[in-house]
Amino acid sequence: MNSPFIMVVFGATGDLMRNKLLPALFSLFKKKQLGIEFFVIGFARRPFTNDSFRKMLRESIKNKNSVLVKKFLDNFYYQQGLFDDKKGYNQLIKKLNTFDNKLGACITRLFYLATPPDNYEIILDFLRSTKLSEGCGQGSSKWTRIIIEKPFGKDLDTARLLDKKLGNIFDEKQIFRVDHYLGKETVQNMVAFRFANKVFEPVWNENYIDHIQITWAEERGVGVHGKFFDGVGLLRDVGQNHLMQLIAGVAMEEPKSFTKEFLRDERAKVIKAIRPIAKIDVSKFVVRGQYNSYIKEKNVPQHSNTETFVAMKFFIDTPRFKNVPFYVRAGKNLQRNVVEISIVFVQSSNILFKEYGFPKIGNVLTIRIQPDEGISIRILAKKPGTKLALKTVNMHFTYQEAFQTKGADAYEKILVDIFAGDQMLFNRSDELSSSWEFITNILEGWSDHKSKVLMYAPGTWGPKEANDLIEKDGRKWL
Ligand code: BG6
Repeated sequence: MNSPFIMVVFGATGDLMRNKLLPALFSLFKKKQLGIEFFVIGFARRPFTNDSFRKMLRESIKNKNSVLVKKFLDNFYYQQGLFDDKKGYNQLIKKLNTFDNKLGACITRLFYLATPPDNYEIILDFLRSTKLSEGCGQGSSKWTRIIIEKPFGKDLDTARLLDKKLGNIFDEKQIFRVDHYLGKETVQNMVAFRFANKVFEPVWNENYIDHIQITWAEERGVGVHGKFFDGVGLLRDVGQNHLMQLIAGVAMEEPKSFTKEFLRDERAKVIKAIRPIAKIDVSKFVVRGQYNSYIKEKNVPQHSNTETFVAMKFFIDTPRFKNVPFYVRAGKNLQRNVVEISIVFVQSSNILFKEYGFPKIGNVLTIRIQPDEGISIRILAKKPGTKLALKTVNMHFTYQEAFQTKGADAYEKILVDIFAGDQMLFNRSDELSSSWEFITNILEGWSDHKSKVLMYAPGTWGPKEANDLIEKDGRKWL
């Protein structure tokens, strides 16, 4: 990244800035990947000065090298403003112009919406009415980009409205819809693994795959994010986005090439092909859970019906996967931190080896997104000894062992791509519409049938109904 840029972060005093953007920017700075001239302007409500803003950010940076950290933070500035008041935006324009004047050029402006989603509309309205969206003038709108974090809307209709608004202000090539799972090394590796190792291709279909299961589990509860989370729920928070990326990675067809539109085409096609769950069937195929101490979390209403856990079964209508059930479970306050996808193959040699300890589940290929990023395959081996007996063993690859690193942080990758204008790992609007269509059906099924959340104890694997969902088909969560 050699050309200068200015990134305006709306909501710059919040968690996203402190926990994700700042560490990623600092890491890129250390690797000299931010170019010589860059400016970050924090835009938020609190009355900071440049100095006190830098001081606040300093507390979130663990590095002890104070000279280096100071050099980094010298690029940060602050603009106090309310999202719904023109004054702050007008002052921001002045500030932006001083940077342009300093460099004698029209500097690329990146507007990062790192605020709660309720603020998106109003900020977008002001970006337009103050002409900030148009860049530094001189017909230079191409020098602006808008970066918007999930959740995009609350359901299909609100997502479409938001998208319409974005589309009225910016060209598609200026819009970066962030789902940081697309920036994860292991999510990108799914495409490389599947299409660079052709040995798996002949068996990657309904003839050989019995079913696919995906587990997305976090040990922690909602913590201090009760207010945000309660208005969203797990299905919108991770189901509509992160889980969709995992499903797309495992089920999509090979893109014609590794270029932005071909890859996004394939992701979009497979998400569109997820068979909708009829509203009336939602309680049959979707389990909705809440950990039983959730309502005691800070800022969570006492009678909240918000789900912190979801398990579901669905199909994908592509020739490759037509009859392969997908079982997905995701939740907070579960037993372990783990995100993984398991492709469970049909058990085919059981007749020949029946008497020698052939287990019910045979080959399983597991793609571990985190932790211990990597891939393993469960195979059967002959136990050492004079008698023939079989045992299940694992062959594995981990990023740590093979490359002595877990790979680049997702937000570093996301930021580098934003700076370079590369949209491959960002959602296109049709991908989002399709995923909202699927998710909105479930949300409406819950509300039409007044579905109740099922309680589960923290540190478990969710309500027992999540086990029933898969066990009634004669299968088990791995
Ligand atoms: C966020 C969700 O998008 O992703 C959080 O809003 C979740 O609820 C987080 O905890 C998980 O991200 P990661 O990278 O830690 O898996």
